[in-house]
Amino acid sequence: MTKDKLILGIETSCDETAVSVVKNGSEILSNIVASQIESHKRFGGVVPEIASRHHVEQITLVIEEAIARANVGYEDLDAIAVTEGPGLVGALLIGVNAAKAISFAHDIPIVGVHHIAGHIYANQLVDKLEFPLLSLVVSGGHTELVYMKEHGHFEVIGETRDDAAGEAYDKVARTLNLPYPGGPHIDLLAQNGNPTIKLPRAWIEGTYDFSFSGLKSAVINTVHNAEQRGETIKPEDLAASFQASVVDVLVSKTVQAAKEFEVKQVLLAGGVAANKGLRNTLEQAFQTLPEIKLSIPPLSLCTDNAAMIAAAGTVFYQKGQRAALNLNGNPSLDITIHN
Ligand code: KG4
Ligand code: ZN
Repeated sequence: MTKDKLILGIETSCDETAVSVVKNGSEILSNIVASQIESHKRFGGVVPEIASRHHVEQITLVIEEAIARANVGYEDLDAIAVTEGPGLVGALLIGVNAAKAISFAHDIPIVGVHHIAGHIYANQLVDKLEFPLLSLVVSGGHTELVYMKEHGHFEVIGETRDDAAGEAYDKVARTLNLPYPGGPHIDLLAQNGNPTIKLPRAWIEGTYDFSFSGLKSAVINTVHNAEQRGETIKPEDLAASFQASVVDVLVSKTVQAAKEFEVKQVLLAGGVAANKGLRNTLEQAFQTLPEIKLSIPPLSLCTDNAAMIAAAGTVFYQKGQRAALNLNGNPSLDITIHN
């Protein structure tokens, strides 16, 4: 019988201070998330300096709570998995330094984890992964189609050429005077509207790349033109039209890539995976492709958390990956480091 693997996950790449203990890469023993959203709201986005300061204040408390809730001691941990990048450098450094301090004090190895690898592995907390697989990663900073032929191997087959999907949601929300982060607000409005306003879809034929800045500008222009003409647009209809455009492109490209790469499983990952419209449309699309298993994590595992970092870290730990004590936060880390 092999011994259980207990991994402490630490995530501080943006505006959540998150720590978790995960058993064998799939069983959550604790998952603590201290969100800073309230502090950033009045600025309409994440302020890096404020994010770092909050992480410093929270990190020790959140680590202690995650350890206590999991009912384990440091001596029980096999490794510490920490988000190494990408993200805000000052924010990343708080998590990386906390990991190094625990590693040094308790002689526990560190595994550096790419944030997007974490989002993808959130799926392992709810489903067994079957390879080859395709993951649609949609977050505030990333929109990517990632092909995986096996555990820990990542190939980006398509990505956004400008704005990330979540970024477009947040900017459109700001135009509609909705609070930050705007994604969930647009999602709610869209559920009560009809997609009656014609908006562009950037297909970028022949590639799996995405583009959302043209769509974002089209929404902003639609609002300004209506204001100038003294017309009113129903925000619900604008939200529904914007969401239809985003979801249409995301789902069409995912289905096309899943067929071309003959994958066994498709995973949804990242904060925008919480989007109702996207979840429903993806589910409908894959109902017609029963040979491909679709996995969609629960909402709490879609947005930033540390259980996903621990889940990914377990895989890399078992593959023998270790970080040295000179580990640094890397804001532009490439996901293929794990290959
Ligand atoms: O993955 P995440 O928590 O942080 C990053 O790594 O970026 O994603 C945050 C993004 C934000 O842009 C937020 O507006 C978006 O995810 N988001 C949503 C929804 N919930 C969160 N976007 C659309 N619909 C939602 N329900
Ligand atoms: Zn994220």
